[in-house]
Amino acid sequence: MSESLQQGDLPDKRQVAASFSRAAHSYDGVAALQRDVGNELLARLPALTPARWLDLGCGTGYFTRGLAERYPQGSGLALDLAEGMLRHARPQGGARHFVAGDAERLPLRDVSLDLIYSSLAVQWCGDFAAVLDEARRTLRSGGVLAFSSLCVGTLQELRDSWQAVDGFVHVNRFRRFEDYQALCVASGMQLLTLERRARTLHFPDLRALTHELKALGAHNLNPGRPGGLTGRARVRALVEAYERFRQPQGLPATYQVVYGVLRKD
Ligand SMILES: C[S@@+](CC[C@H](N)C(=O)[O-])C[C@H]1O[C@@H](n2cnc3c(N)ncnc32)[C@H](O)[C@@H]1O
Repeated sequence: MSESLQQGDLPDKRQVAASFSRAAHSYDGVAALQRDVGNELLARLPALTPARWLDLGCGTGYFTRGLAERYPQGSGLALDLAEGMLRHARPQGGARHFVAGDAERLPLRDVSLDLIYSSLAVQWCGDFAAVLDEARRTLRSGGVLAFSSLCVGTLQELRDSWQAVDGFVHVNRFRRFEDYQALCVASGMQLLTLERRARTLHFPDLRALTHELKALGAHNLNPGRPGGLTGRARVRALVEAYERFRQPQGLPATYQVVYGVLRKD
């Protein structure tokens, strides 16, 4: 059964920033799913000619550069919580400014943006209502917020396998799709589309999956994760539990991706 994500269920923001900063140099090498999701989000953008756009949670800036190509007449801003990501993205260009900041408290003026694009960042925000409030505050009338995120069911195979081993939280928690829906409806913006799509990746073994999560900076940072070393017996038990999910293509890792597009009236 899926529980609702509560404030405090997500890791401390300093930990999130530090983890993504550490991953800045390895991220692009393993971010195939993130590329697909970001491109899918670009494809869902309504026809717009934004004078000022924001890439919210820009990471390495791959989509900042994509947005700059798409809107050559506009002025771009890229924002991320992780200084290390910004240091990596800035020299590659795409935006006029690369700014450190938090999606829940944007360091931006009211009614100053025409488009906010945010791919796979807001699942790290415990207070999604605050993200929506900030979008509504900073968008101009007619402006669009387009986001992708992850919801409950993501990495469920890994969660279930750990559950069988020790019952601890070893996998990042995600909001329910229904909560995304309710918060978007209550945002005071017009909800144009909201959709959930499952994507399953396959890995030759469990080590390949956990290495990828670490290289992305997205390994478990949850409060409630057990400290100390992972004993060999526990790892063996985890491998055995995960093997029960094996398919002909390999060990599956499912991502439940949410796509949302909202417009400020
Ligand atoms: C999975 S990466 C996605 C990066 C990029 N959008 C992409 O699709 O490749 C998530 C990014 O969100 C950033 N992030 C997490 N929480 C954030 C917050 N509260 N405000 C702004 N950025 C945040 C992380 O630092 C990280 O760079």
